[in-house]
Amino acid sequence: MILWQGLGSGGSPGFLRRPVCACGQAGGGKVSEVPASDVPSDPAAAGGQQGKQPGPIIAVDGPAGAGKSTLARRVAQALGFRYLDTGAMYRAVTWAALAKGILPQQATPDALRQVAQSIVVRVSPDSRHVWVDDTEVTGFIREPRVNQAVSWVARVPGVREQLVRQQREWAAGGNVVVDGRDIGTVVFPGAELKLFLTASPAERARRRWRELVQQGYQVELGELERQVEERDHLDSGRAVAPLRPAEDAVVVDSTGRSVNEVVAEVLRECERRGISSCTDSCTGSSGSC
Ligand code: DC
Repeated sequence: MILWQGLGSGGSPGFLRRPVCACGQAGGGKVSEVPASDVPSDPAAAGGQQGKQPGPIIAVDGPAGAGKSTLARRVAQALGFRYLDTGAMYRAVTWAALAKGILPQQATPDALRQVAQSIVVRVSPDSRHVWVDDTEVTGFIREPRVNQAVSWVARVPGVREQLVRQQREWAAGGNVVVDGRDIGTVVFPGAELKLFLTASPAERARRRWRELVQQGYQVELGELERQVEERDHLDSGRAVAPLRPAEDAVVVDSTGRSVNEVVAEVLRECERRGISSCTDSCTGSSGSC
């Protein structure tokens, strides 16, 4: 259900700025993962450098366990867009810190920034695979020790700066769905559609509990509720890029609703805004985006 849609000053003009589908450009899952180098500060400029208009960006923000990644992945699949899970990038830096023997909860911001600067984080076009340098870390970044430390890494401005640059580079060309905490507010303030997905803390803890149990971990639901609240507090209260909906975000509450229901609602919103699947809207000679 759409609870609220703000009409802040940064909204509609950003939506109107770009065409819905730019034919022949990189997109639709064809772009390979990218390292953190030569990153443009403005994704629209990146499209311009290639002589093509960038395609749309859908930003999905919200607290831990609201179902952002499931929603974002499903919407990306339905539209033929790439999907970037930015939380996986913060997790990869956290894994790298732990692998170097650095405990983020006790480390200085400078030590964590240096970790982020010294590694290359790569993410596949569907975010199913993540690497730190040449090591695939996909299987490690959801471990409880990473869960517990990642907020301490994500609050460091120098780490965020590195990762925001990489996120913009990854999304160059558009036709992407990107999820995180600051996507609509900081990373892509001109995104064509900004969603803020929420659910009650109890429901979010239950979802995390189910996920972890399926992965074979034994965890207490009460302990997870405490962790969800602690992470909400850290993510919303930090000085840099705190978790909050963009003024022009569409707020969607997923409490008690099925994934299909929420996905269908978001796809209707895409349609309403003229964001359609690349193959549906593409009229160029390449036949795909
Ligand atoms: O979505 P997630 O639980 O995988 O995110 C892991 C952590 O990274 C969480 O503490 C929030 C933080 N994060 C962030 O600060 N900014 C983002 N764009 C994505 C995640």
